[in-house]
Amino acid sequence: MSVLLSISGYSSTAWLDALQSALPDRRIVTEPASAKDGEIRYAVVWKQPEGLLASLPNLQAIFSIGAGVDHILRDQTLPDVPIARIVAEDLTGRMSEYVVWRVLDHLRRGFAYRAQQALGQWNERVQPAASALTVGIMGLGELGRDAAEKLKFFGFKLAGWSRTRKELPGVVCLAGDEELTDFLGMTDILVVLLPNTPATTGILDAGLLARLKRTSPLGGPVLINAGRGALQVEADILAALESGTLLEASLDVFETEPLPASSPLWRHPRVFVTPHAAASSDPDALVPLIARQIEACERGEPLQHLVDRRAGY
Ligand code: NAP
Ligand code: GLV
Repeated sequence: MSVLLSISGYSSTAWLDALQSALPDRRIVTEPASAKDGEIRYAVVWKQPEGLLASLPNLQAIFSIGAGVDHILRDQTLPDVPIARIVAEDLTGRMSEYVVWRVLDHLRRGFAYRAQQALGQWNERVQPAASALTVGIMGLGELGRDAAEKLKFFGFKLAGWSRTRKELPGVVCLAGDEELTDFLGMTDILVVLLPNTPATTGILDAGLLARLKRTSPLGGPVLINAGRGALQVEADILAALESGTLLEASLDVFETEPLPASSPLWRHPRVFVTPHAAASSDPDALVPLIARQIEACERGEPLQHLVDRRAGY
């Protein structure tokens, strides 16, 4: 039995080493040995080449090395086997660190003070209390719920939006398209932790940004997107920053990654760019979880954190 590791976009060496030491009795391969390699039972992937998995006749399960699975589901030839994604304290903790960091930087006027420092200006800005602002979180899944818990500590008012209704203490929970306008209308800082699915692609457009609360103590609404770049319409975000519909944005994900050098987002004075690094997948933390899932599968036990292929996440 062998395990196929197929990672595109960055180095797979650390994943290969970690998988081999977690599963010492299995053969870990980075390519099928032949056109229809019957030895491969499991695939551990990030953006696998189209058609690769369909060519494996004995494939039993696919594992994403991240929380998202749009990079797997875009393959039109995907075989009908279970897909499991990452749900892990390590990854969730990293995302909440990013969210808290960005929310606090916007609250504490990081953009204005960095600009002032460059000019050597000593000028105290108006500073609203955290409790004067509502952070609205789109996506109340593993990541959104943890971020809400951690933001609560600072005293922010919290709202959340998901596909199905949630009940979370201290969070005004809204659900579905019919409650999206109410959710946006109470949101000063919008944190986006949605998956990219047919229902969410392009959701962060001019129409949505215009529905954010217009009376923020910060002077305008703020967008923080660490979900997926495909959710956002970058031309609309830039136009909203110019018109004052948006005050500032922190973006970790982009329509095209890496973000092209020609993108005006790189140079915009009120945009904070990170290179899809909000919650990196650490092989040392995550491979033991994937190895445990493979061993469970071998024993005939059910997999955890399965993807609903129809919903797309
Ligand atoms: P999750 O547990 O599956 O949660 C997804 C949330 O989005 C759920 O609350 C879900 O609603 C909601 N949702 C999905 N479709 C929706 C729709 N059409 N309308 C309203 N709500 C919708 O996923 P997760 O583990 O929190 O991860 C979320 C995403 O974060 C991943 O898919 C990935 O794209 C992104 N991510 C980014 C990074 C990074 O470094 N930037 C790292 C990790 C993950 P229900 O609760 O009703 O199902
Ligand atoms: C990263 O983007 C992930 O989906 O885990």
